[in-house]
Amino acid sequence: MAKRVESPSIGIDLGTTFGCVGVYKNGHVEIVPNVQGNRKTPACVALTHVERLIGEAADSQLAMNPLNTVFGVKRLLGRRLGDQSLESDQKWWPFKVVAETDGKPQICLSYKGKTVMFAPEDICAMVLSTLKDVAQAEAQPWTLCVIAGLNVIRTVPDTLLAGLTYCLEKRGARAAAGEEKVMVFDLGGGTLGVSLMTVGEGGMEVKAAGGDTHLGGEDFTNRLLQHLAEEFSRKHGRNVRWNARAMQRLRMASERAKRILSTITKAMVEIDSLYDDLDFRTTITRDRFEELNADLFQRCVSCVETTLKDAGVEKREVKEVVLVGGSSRVPKIQQMLSDLFGGKELCKSVNPDEAVAYGAAVQAATLEGSFRERAPVLRWTDVTPHALGIEVGGGMMDVVIPRNAPMPAKKELFFSAHIDNQPGMQINVFEGECRRAWDNRLLGSLDFGGLPPSPAGYARIFVNIEIDANYKIQVLAEERRTGMKKCVDIEPRGCLTKLEIARMVEEAERFKAEDRERKRTVDARNALEDLTKK
Ligand SMILES: Nc1ncnc2c1ncn2[C@@H]1O[C@H](COP(=O)(O)OP(=O)(O)OP(=O)(O)O)[C@@H](O)[C@H]1O
Ligand SMILES: [Mg+2]
Repeated sequence: MAKRVESPSIGIDLGTTFGCVGVYKNGHVEIVPNVQGNRKTPACVALTHVERLIGEAADSQLAMNPLNTVFGVKRLLGRRLGDQSLESDQKWWPFKVVAETDGKPQICLSYKGKTVMFAPEDICAMVLSTLKDVAQAEAQPWTLCVIAGLNVIRTVPDTLLAGLTYCLEKRGARAAAGEEKVMVFDLGGGTLGVSLMTVGEGGMEVKAAGGDTHLGGEDFTNRLLQHLAEEFSRKHGRNVRWNARAMQRLRMASERAKRILSTITKAMVEIDSLYDDLDFRTTITRDRFEELNADLFQRCVSCVETTLKDAGVEKREVKEVVLVGGSSRVPKIQQMLSDLFGGKELCKSVNPDEAVAYGAAVQAATLEGSFRERAPVLRWTDVTPHALGIEVGGGMMDVVIPRNAPMPAKKELFFSAHIDNQPGMQINVFEGECRRAWDNRLLGSLDFGGLPPSPAGYARIFVNIEIDANYKIQVLAEERRTGMKKCVDIEPRGCLTKLEIARMVEEAERFKAEDRERKRTVDARNALEDLTKK
């Protein structure tokens, strides 16, 4: 009898700082090392005079080629230049970011004396393509690939995948435990994801999801970098920030020191000839590092509190707090979390770097029907990632659809003209949690002008705001006495749809084909040169 051959299934976690690949085959998940033998691949791309480098090859030459090495760009996805959070990132990036006409950011690099522009999606696609190569070396032919880490609407949330990993690891103990509430806290390089889920016989379900798409280990490193740069300036009277190469060397030292401070309470920083042949030697204590980041750490804890509130769950009801993501290793954050839950011991049993990729591989295998054990059924409702509101009198934001509302969602509002002969009104739609409208992100505007002259209170404008399952927003305004109507569609920002991911993967294949073509040209040229030398 013919035996069904199971083809491997792939899970990829594309993070802000690292990518990780899991493959499910022969009944278990393996995290696949890249060609350098590492289980995580830096999400870094560089252009040199002759070639394009991705992953470790790009990361390792950052200090030599700072202006042409790109990292952390996942933070640019879905953002516009001018967004407050982007401006603070830009300060620390050695590469140049410029705006397209519609404000979309473009990364500006130079290649063979020419300026070349890349959309952040292009850079992510290049990293993704490399991660696919890592997977393919281990799993050929593969069938299904689940991509996580991209803050995607309408696909399994990363925190749920990490929760799945936790659940499978704890399977034995869990079977008889009944339904429990579990919190997953995923603090990576660029983002914090917090989910409150129920785990039980019936499967796993996300009750509330929260976090911050702009809070992570990169920010902690930047704070340390700023501190060290200031110290160097104080000691030597030179502003090291003017030198991109020196700044990147200092960044690498900051990253190293930050990690050391997760294990011991003091770290040495020693860099020879950092700037103008001046050596830099100093020490940094864990206490100082914690002071430098106090507000950021507090924000992490506040996100947890908000998620609990959104879920309507008391702290004491939470059975387990599962730590995921490289930055969840920071001792102060662990202590603050533990304190929040009344001195609770946190769950560190899943591998914080690999839990999402592992869960993604299991999910791929489950979708394929090849997962051999009984995987818990995953349930979640796509919810709005932020509150959605419009600007009202005094520049305040009036929340129309709250954060964490199940999608699709809609709401109708009513306005009347409040002065005589008011010619119209502008409806500004924002996304965010701040009380002042302009502290949030402006998503779009509807200019409802051209109202015929009438006394105050006569014009009655109904505004209908609708969010579909893909987080596309439609704003429809109607003045019912005159029948005037106007509508505007707003594309989702800050998170991607499944369709966009599919496009990115396609793009990645195109880039790969281009690389192959370039390699063929280089090989041909080398062969020709060899021939002429003979
Ligand atoms: N021992 C450590 N102490 C402190 N921070 C650490 C440690 N190890 C790793 N990190 C930090 O963890 C971050 C990377 O974590 P991770 O790989 O989970 O992020 P990511 O998945 O790439 O990003 P994201 O999930 O935010 O998109 C980096 O900022 C790194 O500095
Ligand atoms: Mg991550």
